[in-house]
Amino acid sequence: MPATSGMRQIKDLPGPRGLPLVGNAFQVKLASVHQDFERWAREFGPLYQMKMGRTQVLVIADHELFTAVLRDRPNGFRRSPRITEIAMEIGLPQGLTSAEGEDWQRQRRMVMASFAPGHVRVYFPSLRKVTLRLQARWEKAARAHTSIDLQADLMRFTVDAIAGLAFGKDINTLESGEDVIQRHLDKVLPAVFRRVVSLVPHWRYVKLPADRALDQSIAVINATLLDFVAQARQRLQGDPALREKPGNLLDAMIVAADQPDSGLGDRQVVGNVMTMLLAGEDTTANTLAWMIHLLQRNPQALLKAHQEVRALAPDPASFSMELMEQLVFLDACISETMRLKPVAPLMALQALRDTTVGDVAVPKETLIMGVLRHDSVSERHFQNPYAFEPQRWLPDAPQPMGAVAKRAAMPFGSGPRMCPGRYLALLEMKMAMAMLLSSFDIEEVVTPNGSEAQERMAVTMNPVGLSMRLRERSSNGKGR
Ligand code: HEM
Repeated sequence: MPATSGMRQIKDLPGPRGLPLVGNAFQVKLASVHQDFERWAREFGPLYQMKMGRTQVLVIADHELFTAVLRDRPNGFRRSPRITEIAMEIGLPQGLTSAEGEDWQRQRRMVMASFAPGHVRVYFPSLRKVTLRLQARWEKAARAHTSIDLQADLMRFTVDAIAGLAFGKDINTLESGEDVIQRHLDKVLPAVFRRVVSLVPHWRYVKLPADRALDQSIAVINATLLDFVAQARQRLQGDPALREKPGNLLDAMIVAADQPDSGLGDRQVVGNVMTMLLAGEDTTANTLAWMIHLLQRNPQALLKAHQEVRALAPDPASFSMELMEQLVFLDACISETMRLKPVAPLMALQALRDTTVGDVAVPKETLIMGVLRHDSVSERHFQNPYAFEPQRWLPDAPQPMGAVAKRAAMPFGSGPRMCPGRYLALLEMKMAMAMLLSSFDIEEVVTPNGSEAQERMAVTMNPVGLSMRLRERSSNGKGR
């Protein structure tokens, strides 16, 4: 146990005054809960306490202190047990996001193996194919001069991209509109979110039609994924060379699970295929939506991004991993978007042993809430912190960003549980953006009330109601 004499206790920290029994629960609005936590961090400082019901929560908005917590996993801290409990109750097979301890360690090895750079190279043509489908869909909209429901289209893109990779099947919601398994998957995360934040677990006593529909969806997903695993096993048996060069995440995970001593079987493969789908769709689609919105509101940055893409990657049909690597300004736009609009702005953890955070004693089982957008928009680390200035991320910026500032934004988390899908997400986002900028001029990106997009916390932090109109560009690089 760490020495705690002379340390502050959580109850001594500043924080919002609450009510008996409910604490601060009624002072947070679900749709903007991240903004409530951020506002309190500005008011009470980067280390404060609040209460959800009777549970005392230590809130950490200082990125260095929170990074130390994130790095002290899996032994010092775990994800909030509530998420795991709800996921298990719903009947989701365990995957990387809900696993802990040794289970997590084994599964992490398997998932990381499926993201090995050599494998991603094999997956690349399927990403390009999906990007070209999005291009075709947007060409149609541009020709008809109809407005595009931006988030819906970007979700179709990320669904097709990740589902294609994960199942090894050509899922095509961009052209056919709907996919059966996806329709069931779409129910899962909103249900987990609703139950995690619900004060009364009504579903334990009375199942409403939505709860019964969820049970049915989970049963269909589990059965379908087990069937996909069986088919993949047959494929691998029929063509042993595939074990060397798996063509999708599912095959790669089976190969990794089949290693001696992996301790993993088909249930863990199913759990993690599902995890990839759930963790990789909303996050990537909404980051893209934010980026398009921010670029549209910052014409200078948009112009630079257009110029870079049109000089280096003018034709989506010839996109390659090497070309994508050259788009450094686009990279900077992605980093700047995630600094200002991290789609996972809060992270809930629990201490697994008595420990300390800075000068505060933290007893075992304390609930911790990490606020990811406090230091990333602080003047201590960034000049003009609320402005969208991608060039600040470039090595040849007039005032190159220091290492501490770079770490102040951590949209993918940190430490051993840092997002394993980050390179894939970055690649997907670059492909979609490079396609958009090479082939179209953006005529408008508008919100329902014409102002800056509101942030709404659902499963991820989303912009509310963006629609976009595009104009096709001719191949000589001039707008038509
Ligand atoms: C812009 C897109 C994305 C963002 C912002 C994002 C963000 C995050 C964050 C903040 C975490 C928690 C990290 C931590 O605990 O330190 C995480 C974990 C995770 N992400 Fe992502 N993610 C994105 C895309 C993806 C994609 C495309 C995939 C998979 C294909 C994915 C799979 C996962 C998984 C499996 C975990 C759990 C890792 C573990 O607990 O060991 N993510 N992500």
